Amino acid sequence: MSIISNCTASAIKAAAKSLVDGNLVVFPTETVYGLGADACNEKAVARIYEAKGRPPNHPLIVHISSIAHLDEWARDIPEYALKLARNFWPGPMTLILPRTKLAKDFITGSQDNVGLRVPEHTVALTLLREFEALGGLGVAAPSANKFGKVSPTSARDVIDELGDRLLDVDQVLEGGISQVGIESTIIDCTGENPIILRPGAITYKMIKNLVLSEVRQEHLSSNKLRAPGMLQSHYQPNANVVLSGEVKSGDGFIALNTQATPIGAIRLASPRNNSEYAQILYKALRLADSKNIKNVFVVAPHGDDIAIAIQDRLQKCSTKINKR
Ligand code: TXA
Ligand code: MG
Repeated sequence: MSIISNCTASAIKAAAKSLVDGNLVVFPTETVYGLGADACNEKAVARIYEAKGRPPNHPLIVHISSIAHLDEWARDIPEYALKLARNFWPGPMTLILPRTKLAKDFITGSQDNVGLRVPEHTVALTLLREFEALGGLGVAAPSANKFGKVSPTSARDVIDELGDRLLDVDQVLEGGISQVGIESTIIDCTGENPIILRPGAITYKMIKNLVLSEVRQEHLSSNKLRAPGMLQSHYQPNANVVLSGEVKSGDGFIALNTQATPIGAIRLASPRNNSEYAQILYKALRLADSKNIKNVFVVAPHGDDIAIAIQDRLQKCSTKINKR
């Protein structure tokens, strides 16, 4: 695997060519780093599953460079979905739409719909444009972590996670720290009204204000589990994530900077606001693992902004049986 730290135009062009050749390219996005492959190349996509250790029936998000390519992948697009795409792309939002023939079973987990996203990161967008210039149609990319683990928000994290699972021909494009820090909002747009499957930086309030219709928040109901991000446990560090009870000596501690560190606890992060909280949460959980901390006590942030997405991830990473 080669790490490209200086993502010049020609380096990105070469990475796009490598995608066309069927190799994997890890690229930065504003949410988290993605493990990319040509979405039309079954063999290349199979390597994503292999590298992540991800069960094969879990669908992948296809990344495109602009809304102009939406109808290559999706059909019967409702007006509200176009509105969402026009307003929030490029950005941290994935739309689930009825698929065209281009979205094969190996991308959609044999579902009749496909997840699409236009990321907001210069390196990602340049890569997608160069790939399309070479005849490519879309780049499938899950978060570049092992299945069930914490998503990477820097190239370093990716190398720690997947370094030993990538081949010499694969590349990791370095593009700084992911600004948002948690995965995109996933919105099911296959019905009459939007349904939020996974909360993210594009919030319920933003969606509701735009589409002016009913918006369901399926992530708040526990019965229907369609996306693996919606599995009960996910996004897990090795440490136990503890959200309530007593902070013990030696515990890791993550909270807004207004909250003092309890005596004996090891402070892992002190974000100044909810956006910063999202940006550094995964890094802080990784830090806990690198320090071999067994339990991390996390004070979840409040609010109707990205706090909802942070709470969602914390809930999921804390469902491991917490032996204290
Ligand atoms: O921010 C993000 O979305 C990042 C960056 C790299 O774009 N990607 C990401 O992908 O988080 P992944 O695979 O780690 O999580 C995507 C989630 C999965 O839970 C998957 O099941 C769900 O999206 N998903 C993808 N396509 C879907 C579909 N057609 N229907 C339902 N869920 C889908
Ligand atoms: Mg993921």
